[in-house]
Amino acid sequence: MRDCVAEVTGSWQPGQVIDVNEEMHRITAKVTSRALISAEEARPAAARLARALPDILRGLYWRMVIPGSLFPRIPLPVNRRFDHQMRHTRHTLDQVVSHYRTTTTDHGDLLSMVITACEQEHDPQQAVYDQVVTILMGGVETTAATLVWLLRLINSHPHIRQRLLAEVTGALGGRPPDHTDLDDLPYTQQVITETVRLYPAGWIVSRSTTADVHWNEGHISAGADVFYSPYALHRDPEPFPDPEAFIPDRWSPEQVTPAQRQAFFGFGVGRRKCIGDVFGVTEATIAVAAILSRRHLEHDGPVTDRPLIGTLLMAPPTRMRVQPATPA
Ligand code: HEM
Repeated sequence: MRDCVAEVTGSWQPGQVIDVNEEMHRITAKVTSRALISAEEARPAAARLARALPDILRGLYWRMVIPGSLFPRIPLPVNRRFDHQMRHTRHTLDQVVSHYRTTTTDHGDLLSMVITACEQEHDPQQAVYDQVVTILMGGVETTAATLVWLLRLINSHPHIRQRLLAEVTGALGGRPPDHTDLDDLPYTQQVITETVRLYPAGWIVSRSTTADVHWNEGHISAGADVFYSPYALHRDPEPFPDPEAFIPDRWSPEQVTPAQRQAFFGFGVGRRKCIGDVFGVTEATIAVAAILSRRHLEHDGPVTDRPLIGTLLMAPPTRMRVQPATPA
């Protein structure tokens, strides 16, 4: 994570205007694809997989909001791109997996683990493919979107940015952060949680019922499509007073309540809950600490706050000017 963040942010020059969405995507695509595929010779393939994600996510969103088998067959651009990228991803991944199988080395990465775990499956190739696509889709855009929202929020809340910077400077003393610094960055993690509360990348989550469900006055039949929205639930003023306000301190050990924790669905809930929550928060903490300790990013041009909705809740185009780090 530290190396990937340094590779991306190392090229930013003072005065340069960066496309923040693109840069955060570069960081998280590198981190997730490298955790998945660490073999040096397979890195270009890992990068290709990450690049296919936006088209796949767009296609999935429309399949989610228009359930049924008819929509995917209509030759719309969104469906054609989705089909093309799925084929392309499949082909790339098949090549990497055959390479891993023939070299028989355990590369110590996630793909080696997935290959071993899927050996007993009815169709191991398909099982590996499904797992890898799920991990890439779950890991890249979500963390990137969270980082973009966070950088926007601290820009419009200078006192929070200043406190964050003081924590980062105190913990790191100028060196790059890594996982051993996490315990010394509690406020940074509160800022991340509050960002996910206000702008949960998974703003809407769907389930299909496998059995009839009854409660007090309610009933949902088996086979129904059910949606719930963390974005809406996170704006309930009961657990989250002044819900539209960005208040990282609501997650401090002194202030956080059990009701608040229960009302937080930023990583989903139940059996299909995010498996990468700790990974994602670790990655975001390292990225934020590294960025703040080296650079000050400020909005360049007009700022619109309206989220872009699709499968994920994405930030609108965000351009920021890179400045040297300000003193804490
Ligand atoms: C801030 C970052 C992240 C956010 C906000 C986030 C959010 C979510 C949400 C809302 C879900 C759906 C849960 C549900 O259906 O109940 C999910 C699922 C998932 N996430 Fe994350 N995620 C993040 C980072 C990651 C990372 C870094 C990875 C992997 C490296 C990851 C892997 C997954 C996977 C594999 C699933 C599917 C789990 C399943 O269906 O069993 N996520 N995530």
